[in-house]
Amino acid sequence: MCGIIGYTGEDQALPVLLKGLRALEYRGYDSAGIALCGGNGITTVKAKGRIDLLEEKLKISPPEPSFCGIGHTRWATHGAPSDLNAHPHSTENLSLVHNGIIENYAEVEAMLKGFGYTFVSETDTEAAAKLVDHFYKITCDPVKSVFSATGFLRGSFAFGVIFRDVPGKIYAVRRDSPLIVARCNHGSLIASDIPAILPYTKKYFRLPEDTVAVIDEKSTEFFGRDGKKLSLPEETVDWSVSEAQKSGYPHFMLKEICEEPEALRKTVGARLVDSLPDFKDIIDRIPERIHIVACGTAMHAGLIGKTLIEMFARVPTEVCIASEFRYRDPILHGNELVLLLSQSGETADTLAALRHAKAAGVPTLAIVNVIGSSVAREADRVLYTLAGPEIAVASTKAYSVQCACLALMAIDLALKNGRMTEKEARGLTETLLTSVPEAVGKVIGMSEKIKVLANEFTDTEHLFYIGRGIDCDLCAEGSLKLKEISYIHSEAYAAGELKHGTISLVTDRVPVVAVMTDRSLAGKTLSGVREVKSRGAHLLVLTTDGVKESLGAPIPCDKTITVPEIGCEDCPYLARLLTLFPAVTALQLFAYHAAADRGLDVDKPRNLAKSVTVE
Ligand code: M6R
Repeated sequence: MCGIIGYTGEDQALPVLLKGLRALEYRGYDSAGIALCGGNGITTVKAKGRIDLLEEKLKISPPEPSFCGIGHTRWATHGAPSDLNAHPHSTENLSLVHNGIIENYAEVEAMLKGFGYTFVSETDTEAAAKLVDHFYKITCDPVKSVFSATGFLRGSFAFGVIFRDVPGKIYAVRRDSPLIVARCNHGSLIASDIPAILPYTKKYFRLPEDTVAVIDEKSTEFFGRDGKKLSLPEETVDWSVSEAQKSGYPHFMLKEICEEPEALRKTVGARLVDSLPDFKDIIDRIPERIHIVACGTAMHAGLIGKTLIEMFARVPTEVCIASEFRYRDPILHGNELVLLLSQSGETADTLAALRHAKAAGVPTLAIVNVIGSSVAREADRVLYTLAGPEIAVASTKAYSVQCACLALMAIDLALKNGRMTEKEARGLTETLLTSVPEAVGKVIGMSEKIKVLANEFTDTEHLFYIGRGIDCDLCAEGSLKLKEISYIHSEAYAAGELKHGTISLVTDRVPVVAVMTDRSLAGKTLSGVREVKSRGAHLLVLTTDGVKESLGAPIPCDKTITVPEIGCEDCPYLARLLTLFPAVTALQLFAYHAAADRGLDVDKPRNLAKSVTVE
């Protein structure tokens, strides 16, 4: 979503701010702006659109040199993307950038109008800026004015503020929206996410909620609401600058797909003791029911989790979209488990669902990629996926490692409740650790072939994905991946459900991708394939040699992608379900190449944000 950067120090602030904004671009945004504090007060420059447009404006009328400033990339929530709605929002005394949503902004605006304030933008942020200004006029104290304002505000926020009268200092505060503070050789920084500080330092402070940070050239200080100074532990980023760079790949998305084999090995390897999954620290007893709650791609990993947990261990498992969870009054019991999946750990809907589950007294477990993120900190237990930073808005490697964790959990539960022998569990675990990453690597090696097939779909407007069982779960993710980055409209359908209405949309202009990796259901999916083929659909089938052999007759289709089938002597049927891993990589590559061939901004699709920190 929005991005915040602030710098104060010995160096010129503008280049640091622009570099920081570029590092945060991946979060998704539709306007950008900066504010610099100098001898002539505060200079603010804002532009709708990409950072390039902001830079052009800055070249046309360069601001006076400054060593302290704040910058922002905005993802519009209140008010359309425009120069006026872009941040920072300034008053005669200060300039403020904001991530999050102020829920009671209308009430605050009404109150401030009573004090003579006027409003020019359509944003909730302007109310926050003017509220801090109002209290600053009363207290003449930046820290007090920030605390007084946040005491009034409802919603989520991370603020960076500079005051005209206090050049060289930046003030920051947050609630339900992440913000970090860092010291570097030549000054201090605030940022909403780690990539913005990585070129300068790997050390940072995670700003606690309702704590004000005051930073200047030489120091970083933290104050509690009672005015007392706080001492915070400094943390160290565990990934390198190169991990946050494209390293020669045309897009982060392709780089991240190519990182899947390694991410899988690391994530699975970290959870093994004596070659078996070890969940002792996070699951003490078999829950009566598991509720998997997540959004988007993470929710699709949850669908895979349900299939594997129920197939392997027969533990009833529900999957719920996080934004729906708390509004459906879910029936929850203390002997169940709510399992939250999130790459970022900052998704507002997932966080709200977690809080709902905790309030209901159900044990919670989070599977999260970002260490120390809000979901990770608030859940009772946490299991980290080790995918490394995921920058592209389209989630790929995070999905694969979430599925791997869920597969391990399914094996662990199956072993615990006697549904699987130790030999079978060892065989499957070894398969996850070795054969699965190998097979994914082979699919990555097929990227050029998949590109040729995907390019045939460049002019497609609508498309269906069909499959049964676990293949149906894969279709959901394949379809989301395609539509979010290529803007080709697609729907995922259970192969047997199409004939109950939707097949009326299938024509020779509506291609179909059939996912057929599960031998036990491929014969059934074949009926759906024949139905769409006979209605003229161009048909691409994603399958395995094993499925082709088991069918005994050729699949009536136009093109095929054949991925390696996963096998394991000790547990052949369940191991074959793990073909999901190479299959999803093929679907990700298909979506990637379809979007890249259309010349689209693959890593930053329109209207989307990497972590969705608003409800
Ligand atoms: O960070 P999270 O895993 O909680 O994010 C959930 C979704 O917002 C995310 O997966 C989204 O659907 C991606 N754009 C999909 O590629």
